[in-house]
Amino acid sequence: MKYLIRKFTGKSLKIIFIIAATFSQLGSFCQDNVTNDVAVNIIPLPVKATLSKGGFTINRKTVIVINDDGEKNTARFLQAYIQRIYGVSLAIKKTAVNNYIRFNTKRFIKAPDQPERYNLSVLPSKAIVTGDSYQGTFLGMQSLIQLLPVEKNKPLALKAMEVEDYPRFAYRGMHLDVGRHFFPVDFIKKYIDFISLHKMNTFHWHLTEDQGWRIEIKKYPLLTQIGGCRNGTIIGKNPGKGNDNQPYCGFYTQDEVRDVVKYAADRFITVIPEIEMPGHGSAAIAAYPFLSCFPNESTKINPRAAWNGPTTGKQVQQTWGVFEDVFCAGKDSVFQFLQDVIDEVVQLFPSQYIHIGGDECPKANWKRCPQCQQRIEELGLKDEHELQSYFIQRMEKYITGKGRKIIGWDEILEGGLAPNASVMSWRGEKGGIEAAHQKHNVVMTPGEYVYLDHSQTKNEDSVTIGGFTNVEKVYSYDPVSKELAPDEAKYVLGAQGNVWTEYMASPAKVEYMIFPRMSALSEILWSPKEKKDFPDFEKRLQDQFRRYELWNANYSKAKLKE
Ligand code: ACM
Ligand code: ZN
Repeated sequence: MKYLIRKFTGKSLKIIFIIAATFSQLGSFCQDNVTNDVAVNIIPLPVKATLSKGGFTINRKTVIVINDDGEKNTARFLQAYIQRIYGVSLAIKKTAVNNYIRFNTKRFIKAPDQPERYNLSVLPSKAIVTGDSYQGTFLGMQSLIQLLPVEKNKPLALKAMEVEDYPRFAYRGMHLDVGRHFFPVDFIKKYIDFISLHKMNTFHWHLTEDQGWRIEIKKYPLLTQIGGCRNGTIIGKNPGKGNDNQPYCGFYTQDEVRDVVKYAADRFITVIPEIEMPGHGSAAIAAYPFLSCFPNESTKINPRAAWNGPTTGKQVQQTWGVFEDVFCAGKDSVFQFLQDVIDEVVQLFPSQYIHIGGDECPKANWKRCPQCQQRIEELGLKDEHELQSYFIQRMEKYITGKGRKIIGWDEILEGGLAPNASVMSWRGEKGGIEAAHQKHNVVMTPGEYVYLDHSQTKNEDSVTIGGFTNVEKVYSYDPVSKELAPDEAKYVLGAQGNVWTEYMASPAKVEYMIFPRMSALSEILWSPKEKKDFPDFEKRLQDQFRRYELWNANYSKAKLKE
């Protein structure tokens, strides 16, 4: 600019100013009418956002106005957020004349066809969030939060705008494995907040593993007393460079589970518990050896891995992988045990779905187990895959009898899908496509796109399980495969990011692995497909990085694309 002024003088400078002024007017005219602009920096991108002139600045006198208790948790979330991040304490009231943020749920709609729909209007001296249900109002409040500055010490100025919004998919999930590493309730709540800040609505809590059983079951106290502890953990990448020789224990009491479920429900998030069967059961078997086909055989220990403590008897695993000692499919006592566990689980979790695992169940023990073989013979089953199908179908019948539905990993397709089962497709999309062909509901979690335990850069400096899934790759995912006919697409409920924690021993590492990829996932699940635009997302992500900092969350600074 300096160079231009020096070169052009007098008349020519005047002409330049006239041209510049015209362009800037044009620019502001365009901005006033854009459907989306980086100035509306919301992730996931709304269906429609239109900026207009002026705005509204929140100050200490601004009131959050609610109609009734259905909006109270939403008001409290906003109040706590603004207090914690910006140090401004807002009152919650039933009325106000101006300078307010009003929640105005359409309570007259008894059964909204799209309960997650909302409108957000920011006007001079007020903002109004109108949800088609209380959940919609909560989601609209999440958009309002993202209009706030990404720096702590700036005025809380909101640009005037109209937002109309609703999600593309009904199921927008995040999973967390607390078996390989255990995370305290405080972090589980922070994780649930991350889910809600992204307008996602499901937390899949993976509670049982070979390396730890993490949920208190009153009828079987040894599950947590013995199954909740391992004597050590390998160091580094499997099979490890040694063992840390540290006992590693942790579980959630039923009171803590209830507290987490309520915390999530206050944020309109469903918690789906996963109780793994018939595989990944080493911790349960260490507690109750009768669950194994061979109770008297010692746990097989990877000879290449270092081990701490006793090496005989049934042991909780200290290494990662898939293990042969699985629940016996031949003994009725095993089913009785699992039914008892389910009885307590359904008391704790009101979710429609109970996840029963079903993945990675080696058949070696079943092949040599007289009781499993007898079951195969009696029922005229073809092989051990059909025995696995029998196992899942038997548990499905029980869970259906409790008024719930099962969901399981895509191996539950093998040997025949249980009649009302939904499928979580993780070995690519094949299982999900097959399930949709069979008119079963599907949640897509293909490893290549949404396994957030994969490395997110080719220069990864921390240990991960491997793979390579960067932000661009996550963003490129479309949960509705081209292989599905239009009338099959409706079986794809949505997708989920999976967070397996073999190589995530701390909350900071989990945050590093999920951010920013979870933000990309939230957009593919919420925003209209036609609006997907990676360069635009990259621009909006610059503010999202600042938000992670406001949230006191760690995140990866790796390149977004290679
Ligand atoms: C899985 O990743 N084993 C479901
Ligand atoms: Zn058996």
